[in-house]
Amino acid sequence: MSHNITIQKTEKSRISSVDFNNIGFGKIFSDHMFLADWDGNAWTRPRIEPYANLSLSPATSAIHYGQAIFEGMKAFRSEGNVYLFRPRDNWRRLNISAERMVMPEVPEALFMEGLTSLIRLDQDWVPGSEGSALYIRPFMFATDDFIGVKPSEKYCFAIFTCPVGPYYSKPLRIKVEERYSRAAPGGVGFTKCAGNYGAAMYPTKLAQSEGFDQVLWTDPLTHTLVEETGTTNFFAVTNNCVITPNLHETMLAGITRDSVIKVLQKDGLTVEERPLTVTELKNLHTSGMLNELFISGTAATLINIEGFAHQGQYFDVLTTGNTAVSDKLRNSLDQIRHGKSEDIFGWIEKL
Ligand code: COI
Repeated sequence: MSHNITIQKTEKSRISSVDFNNIGFGKIFSDHMFLADWDGNAWTRPRIEPYANLSLSPATSAIHYGQAIFEGMKAFRSEGNVYLFRPRDNWRRLNISAERMVMPEVPEALFMEGLTSLIRLDQDWVPGSEGSALYIRPFMFATDDFIGVKPSEKYCFAIFTCPVGPYYSKPLRIKVEERYSRAAPGGVGFTKCAGNYGAAMYPTKLAQSEGFDQVLWTDPLTHTLVEETGTTNFFAVTNNCVITPNLHETMLAGITRDSVIKVLQKDGLTVEERPLTVTELKNLHTSGMLNELFISGTAATLINIEGFAHQGQYFDVLTTGNTAVSDKLRNSLDQIRHGKSEDIFGWIEKL
C-alpha cells in the first residue's frame, strides 16, 4: 500500500552552518523529520516537516509510563550514491518491540516510504568522510494525554536523522557488572524500549566514575554469563574461533551483531553463539588464548575492547593480543555498507 506523504520543506536549510569536519555524535539534526499519527485505528497524516520541537501535553502517556521504543540505523555515502544498511531488519525489530510494549504495528510500506522520502529530501546531509554516516532514528511513543495506567490509544511514529562521526573514538575499558542488571527473564531486554537505556545509566555512571567507559552486562540471575555492553553486543576472538553470547530474552538482537557473524562465517571463521562465562573469558586471557575483544552496534560500529575488569582485577587484552580479526571485519563491513563490495547478503538498499 502506498502512503500519501505530505511534504512541507524548510524555508531555510541549516546545512551551511554545519562543520562536517566536526560533527561528533547525535547533536546535529538534519533539516526535516517524518511523522505519522496512530489515531486508535490507523496510521494517519504521514508527513515530512522541518525538524522542530514537538508540542506535547504534560500528561503525555509515554513520559509517565514509558511506552516508547526506537531503532538506530545508518545511511552511507559513496561515490555520489547513498546506501541504506538493512533498513527492513530495523523495521522488523521495531515491530517486535512494539508488540511487547502493546503499541501498534508500523507497516513496512509506511516505514520504508517515510524513511526513503526523508533521506531523499535530506540527502545532502549524508556525510562522506571516513567513519561518518547519517544516523537514522525511527521511534514511536504513546501520545494519549491520560495518566491512568493503560496502553495508550494514540501514538506518534517519527524518524529524524543526524550526520554522525564515530560514537566511540578509542578502544574501551569495560567493567563486568555483577551488582546491577540490565534486564530480567520475562522482561523487556530483547526490545529497544527507552526504559532499558534509562535504567542502565546509573550503573554506567558508577563504572565511569571508576575509570571505565562502559559496563559489560552479565545475566541477571547468576551474574556469571556475559551478555552485552550498555550500547552494543560483545565478541571474543580466541585462537581458534569467535565467541559471542547466544541471544535470549534479556538481550538485544543486534543487526550489526548478525552482520558480524555472517561476514566472519563467510571468511571461514568459526563463530560460536553460546553461553560465555566470565570465568572462561578470564581463563582464555590467562592461558594466552584470548586474542581480541570487540563490540558491535549501529552507533558504535565495531570497536575494540582495551580490557575488562572483574572483581577488582583488570585484564588487558589489547597489549597482549592483536586486532587482526576485527580490523579485517571492520574493513569488510565498511566495503559492504558503502556499496564497494558485492552485496552477497542483500543488505544494501540504494536510495
Ligand atoms: C544504536 O546503536 O543505534 C543504538 O541505538 C545504541 C545507542 C547507544 C545509540
